Amino acid sequence: MTAIGAPLDRVDGPAKTTGAARFAAEQQPPGLTYAALVHATISRGRITALDTSAARAVPGVIAVLTHENAPPLTPARKVTPLDLSTMASGTSVNYLQDDEIHWNGQPIAVVVAEDPAAAREAASLVRAEYAVLPATVDFAAMEPAAKQQPNSMISPGEGKKGDAEKALAAAPVTVDLRFTTPGHSHNALEPHATVAVWEGNRLTVHDATQSLDWFRNHLAARFDIPVADVRVLAPFVGGGFGGKGAVWPGTILAALAARATGRPVRLALTREDVYRTVGGRTPTTQRVALGADRDGKLTALIHTSVSRLGRVGGMPEQITSQSRHLYDAANILVRQSVVELDLLPNTFMRAPGEAIGTFALEAAMDELAAETGLDPVELRRRNEPAVNPVDGKKFTHRRLREVYALGAERFGWSDRTPEPGSMRDGRWLVGMGVASAFHPALRFPANVTLRVSAAGTVVLRCGFQEMGMGAATAQAQVTADALGVPVEAVRVEYGDSDLPVSPSAGGSVQTASIAGSVVEAAEKLTRSLRRLAKRTGGDDPFAVLRQAGVPHVEASVGSDTRLGRLSTQARFIGGFLRDSRKMRAASGAQFCEVRVDPDTGETRISRWLGVFDIGTVVNAKTAVSQLRGGIVMGIGMALSEETLVDPRTGRIMNPSLAEYHVPVHADIPRIEVSMLDDPDPTMPMGVIGAGEVGITGVAAAVANAVYHATGRRVRDLPITLDKVA
Ligand code: MOS
Repeated sequence: MTAIGAPLDRVDGPAKTTGAARFAAEQQPPGLTYAALVHATISRGRITALDTSAARAVPGVIAVLTHENAPPLTPARKVTPLDLSTMASGTSVNYLQDDEIHWNGQPIAVVVAEDPAAAREAASLVRAEYAVLPATVDFAAMEPAAKQQPNSMISPGEGKKGDAEKALAAAPVTVDLRFTTPGHSHNALEPHATVAVWEGNRLTVHDATQSLDWFRNHLAARFDIPVADVRVLAPFVGGGFGGKGAVWPGTILAALAARATGRPVRLALTREDVYRTVGGRTPTTQRVALGADRDGKLTALIHTSVSRLGRVGGMPEQITSQSRHLYDAANILVRQSVVELDLLPNTFMRAPGEAIGTFALEAAMDELAAETGLDPVELRRRNEPAVNPVDGKKFTHRRLREVYALGAERFGWSDRTPEPGSMRDGRWLVGMGVASAFHPALRFPANVTLRVSAAGTVVLRCGFQEMGMGAATAQAQVTADALGVPVEAVRVEYGDSDLPVSPSAGGSVQTASIAGSVVEAAEKLTRSLRRLAKRTGGDDPFAVLRQAGVPHVEASVGSDTRLGRLSTQARFIGGFLRDSRKMRAASGAQFCEVRVDPDTGETRISRWLGVFDIGTVVNAKTAVSQLRGGIVMGIGMALSEETLVDPRTGRIMNPSLAEYHVPVHADIPRIEVSMLDDPDPTMPMGVIGAGEVGITGVAAAVANAVYHATGRRVRDLPITLDKVA
């Protein structure tokens, strides 16, 4: 094997950097029209009057679609755990089909015009009157009404061992802490965009999606046409992070508007449209209570959370799931609750659950370290489990002790003087903090076709999603090694729902899932090639084909027929049951150094090291980028990101990058990333996902470093200056 691990440049890099890449909003089918959304300004109620006359009078306006004149749309299917594609529905609302309002920002009209400026101008002129109904929108006020959350099949956040409350009461050293994290909004570089084209009853959609197959199935169901008559194309996507995993109103309304007008429609969301119509991360309140012996051995671990769903949908996030896996405590209790509010439902956002769950758990571990007088790295070492703590399952692979040892060495952890406020650089207070990273590693079925040609080329066909993380490059590397051919010979076709079905680019499953099928297909091809080689001799696949006079050989894994889909579902369930006998995860340690201004409380990240165990490293360059990107996103969560909802109106108050602060270059130091590159023995080629583990633990490492610098514990994200000074 030679290609795997190499730090190859991305195969899609030149197209993206030269501008040759055509993103969804850049598609220009003949007769294209442009759409703009109108948003509701109340949280709950009914539209009593709509005045579209001024909008319709704007020159260039073709149509103003509302619930009074929009074509029919089939309601979304209910979510069922056995058919993951039912999770494609961002909300359960049937847009423009009735007068009901379910959140402040819900689209109530879509304007279609000959140019984008006319569409936007007309959208601003639509007037609505409402009968307002009482709405509950204030998460903090609703927390006492939280009820138990349905347990997630994929990554449960429920668990119990022994009697944790009793053990906590009896423990000589305890911390019992409350943490809060705010909602977050999606801010991919490329806002969501759709170009929808109908030809008769066939629908083609160019969409910025990370779920081609979910989108195709969902659109077929909503427009009541066969799945085979929907094609979704996404050869280039400018970032996803989960926000492009489910189908949000923009995609549906673009297709609806195209159907209504008989013209191709482009709906490119503004940044504000994304905040108002694409779900984000839930806010939480969390309790972490830890009890330990005087030598730091945990006797009790309690982690409970309250998070938010929308009344019209939302994804239960597994806030407490990592607390089932990270530490060996004799008594454990993890439990999750939810409140349902009249707000835009939450959705997937990079490590949904663990990103914020690790904040509370890992900040609490730091507080326990201080209580016991132990070094935070040593405290974690003493509580490293031999088996999965809650249920005693074996880990497929667990190297956290080595991860910490390596990290501490590389970061210079031993230079840290334990006393808070004891390290300075001029007037800056210096702090060093550490936290564990953790994310479960799953594998889903993926259909692929692999063809080797005598001409010296290999083509991998799989409808996966390339959002900029290097997916296509990684699969070229996997294919090259699986077949024993040079990586330059491999071409990868992706980003098109007409290709064999891939899982979504989500849950950190894509790379490993497809790699598994590539390996399987390559084994089939290798068998055919060996049979040919018996006649021809030699083991170069291209030479064998040439000498045998065979133009090409091809092998497939999975099929997209109805029967194929059923078998895919069966394989998913089988794989899931097999996987659930052991615990498999990516893990890591985040080392952070901050400098805090003692007068203003301004916190700057000055150094970062993340050490990760992500199984086999497929591409040393793109894997590091993926992990580094997760850390950057985590720094945003730690220091600045917060979606502000007006508790009176339920309206998001900061729907722009001017008022919702993501990190900029000046906020981010050089981020060092190390990887163990140790194959997971239960995965094809040892590959497990790297997409999400990078963000986990980051906010805690920052909070712990701020404490070390200042002596101040900030348990409420984001860590803004007012909370530090
Ligand atoms: Mo991710 S939140 O699975 O894109």
